[in-house]
Amino acid sequence: MNAIDIRNKFLKFFESKGHTIIPSAPLIPENDPSVLFTTAGMQPLVPYLLGEKHPEGTRLADYQKCVRTVDIDEVGDNRHLTYFEMLGNWSLGDYFKEESIKMSYEFLTKELEIPTEKLSVTVFAGDDDAPRDEESAKIWKEVGMPNDHIYYFGKDDNWWIAGEEGPCGPDTEMFYDTGKEPCSENCNPSCDCGKYVEIWNNVFMEYYKQHDGTYTKLKQKNVDTGLGLERINMLLQGKQTPYDTEIFAPIMAKIQELSKKDNLQSTRIVAEHLRSSIMIICDGGRPSNVDRGYVLRRLIRRMTRHLNKLQINLDELPKLIDLNIENLKDMYPSLETNKETIKQVIVEEKDKFMKTLANGEKEFFKAITRLQNENKNKLDGQTVFKLYDTYGFPPEVTKDLARRTRNFYRYARI
Ligand code: ALA
Repeated sequence: MNAIDIRNKFLKFFESKGHTIIPSAPLIPENDPSVLFTTAGMQPLVPYLLGEKHPEGTRLADYQKCVRTVDIDEVGDNRHLTYFEMLGNWSLGDYFKEESIKMSYEFLTKELEIPTEKLSVTVFAGDDDAPRDEESAKIWKEVGMPNDHIYYFGKDDNWWIAGEEGPCGPDTEMFYDTGKEPCSENCNPSCDCGKYVEIWNNVFMEYYKQHDGTYTKLKQKNVDTGLGLERINMLLQGKQTPYDTEIFAPIMAKIQELSKKDNLQSTRIVAEHLRSSIMIICDGGRPSNVDRGYVLRRLIRRMTRHLNKLQINLDELPKLIDLNIENLKDMYPSLETNKETIKQVIVEEKDKFMKTLANGEKEFFKAITRLQNENKNKLDGQTVFKLYDTYGFPPEVTKDLARRTRNFYRYARI
């Protein structure tokens, strides 16, 4: 089974349960300047969660393209991704906890054939804002979840909201046990050791968090779920990272073949940022100095830096883009039609960045000479900032260069 099979199974399953399959909304939200990118399947559905009638009814399902950039600096480890696909099903004032939990359990155990022993679930422990979710725990027991696989946690773990204000509620999360040894006697799904990996989140959206932090009840009780495709795909294939699955494996292999340095982190950053950039550009994003354009610029520039680190000839970039699109076009057919634009945007941005780097490098050495004349061997924050602000020279590059420049190994943190 691969990612496309899982996506198709998911949509077919929810269709058989009376859901209408709606198209993925663009990564760049329409008419919503308050968010940079679509970060969850529920985002385009907010008006309907608040009570507006959806033209397709009260049961919906889709696969949603998402970009989350809060963890951009973590990309390169074994799990963080900036672009991912979220499978989701929604009840807009239709079914609630019972049907939602029963459908999720059926999908995981019957369609994906995950044995119950491999699953654990968490539910909301309750606080002053909302009661302990005994109801969800009871439903989990009824479907066959062993008692000691059901955990209660507080708002930090079992409450979901997009941002600070909006529709929200307690959630029940499903975890996959990777079979790793427990990290301690108290090892449980809320711990980060890697034994338990979250796969699905069902949010029981019946509240609205106001600007002042208080909660009110929504007009209707909704369900909003999210199942991360790259993650479930990796787990079902018994792989350690998403980079080992068919989504990234061919591009990882090509980068490694072209590379003159063995650096897994840089290889992953190039593969991951290239996919995100391709997806964003395909949905109309363009690099700029503000907001979402700036995120795209950062992704392309960071990728270029790591191509340099791997000592890959930058003229290979169009080939890497072609290969990526070839690999992803069955999942996202619009990549094929937008191929030339995607290549043009990425290559142009790479060229601009290389010019910036060349200019910045000149300024860097001027600054170094000045500091040496002043008998200083520490690069001060002001210089680092000026290099960035005036010449667009990224602080990470300044840091690398300072490390490699004799007597300038010390670097002021800014
Ligand atoms: N909106 C929920 C999430 O993103 C399902 O986890």
